Amino acid sequence: MTTDIHYRLTLVDANTSQHSHCTASTTLLEAMRASGLAVRKACRNGVCGLCRCRVVKGEITYHWKVPHGLWQKDIEQNFILPCIAYPVSDLVLDQLPLV
Ligand code: FES
Repeated sequence: MTTDIHYRLTLVDANTSQHSHCTASTTLLEAMRASGLAVRKACRNGVCGLCRCRVVKGEITYHWKVPHGLWQKDIEQNFILPCIAYPVSDLVLDQLPLV
């Protein structure tokens, strides 16, 4: 039996921040949707860039996938693609892809 690792997820919108949780085996896009946010998405494969948001604090991994939907300047500004991103620490995200 394996146990999934749980992390704290803080989602910051214009004037509010919402505390939730995420697990090491669930994408951050799924975690956002599970917390009740309506988020933009299309390919769910790291290509279109529609789900882009920014990491304010914490670390993620894409495992074997490549975030093709990000420009180099996006990466330098800590933008990520949550549809293929998994947490490896507690996270604070902003610039959320809200519908
Ligand atoms: S939904 Fe297309 S990059 Fe995330």
